[in-house]
Amino acid sequence: MKTLEYKWQSPSNIALIKYWGKHDRQLPCNPSISFTLDQAQTQTSLVVEFGKSGKPFELNFLFEGIENTSFANKINKKLESLSDVLPMLKTGVSLTVNSLNTFPHSAGIASSASSMSALALCLLEAQYALDGNEAATSSNLFRQEASSLARLLSGSACRSLFPVLGQWGKAEDLAGSSDEWAIGVEAHPVFSTYRNDILIVSRKEKTVSSTAGHNLMTNHPFANARYQQACTNLQAILRALKTGDVEVVGDIMELEALVLHGLMMSSTPSFILLEPNSLNIINEIRQYRAQSGLPLYFSIDAGPNIHLLYPAEIESRLADFIETRLKPFCINGQIIKDKVGMGASRI
Ligand code: PMV
Repeated sequence: MKTLEYKWQSPSNIALIKYWGKHDRQLPCNPSISFTLDQAQTQTSLVVEFGKSGKPFELNFLFEGIENTSFANKINKKLESLSDVLPMLKTGVSLTVNSLNTFPHSAGIASSASSMSALALCLLEAQYALDGNEAATSSNLFRQEASSLARLLSGSACRSLFPVLGQWGKAEDLAGSSDEWAIGVEAHPVFSTYRNDILIVSRKEKTVSSTAGHNLMTNHPFANARYQQACTNLQAILRALKTGDVEVVGDIMELEALVLHGLMMSSTPSFILLEPNSLNIINEIRQYRAQSGLPLYFSIDAGPNIHLLYPAEIESRLADFIETRLKPFCINGQIIKDKVGMGASRI
């Protein structure tokens, strides 16, 4: 009986063009693109004991060293549907996953992108080892297959593997783009310096899970127009990302964030995830930008917290504004400092 251990860390990401709506086996209804983050990481180790279990596979899941049956049940369910992609799940392997996040708990930061991409990398490396294919784990094909596996575990997780930007979903004129996995895309160097300050407006649990949210798009009256808009916005943002046009990137990014929330508000049932302080912050940012001319923009995930995005070179000029005008709207003044990062890596 062979025992092997694999360890990866993978970051969270913040979407500039939002993925909202899926079909079939976790395929997106529109293409999306995100900044890869740096500080918000999940570190995962996977111990695999081959041929140990009497069942097709067994899973123990520890979060920060403590057994967590609720996470274990969720992941177990996902893995049961993945034996075509990971044939080792039919061979009686015993899997022990130990996972920790480098960002604070219950700060309203989604951890599924970082945790599921780190897990996908560990699982795929184990599968490659079982197939006698260890040498291939630094290949582009390995990254692609890991991204595809991350997608099956949690859609947007597939974008987290790549440095600076991850793009997912077939897009016109973008060679290599696919609905099945994400790819890295090149951008103007200014974007590798981007800061992401996450303004914590509320730490309440989300009132809509992302699966339920995606499902709301199935009968949404604006669905087709939205998918078309995302394609158009992606073309425009890709051009601006190449040329370094921070204003165009910022304008599209803000529009996408508000459209995501608009779609939630106008679905049946309807959800309002923004809090009064989310809107207060948005108003402050827009006023400040108009007055200062500085490229400070925001994005928002499926929650009330506001992500500030701006080039590092204006950081010191923004400090006073953030401290005096935005921090008072944050719960306990909490702001998590992050920046654009380099993607997943072995640890
Ligand atoms: O990957 P999921 O199923 O958690 O969906 C993510 C959806 C958004 O975060 C709202 C948008 C995105 O593209 O990341």
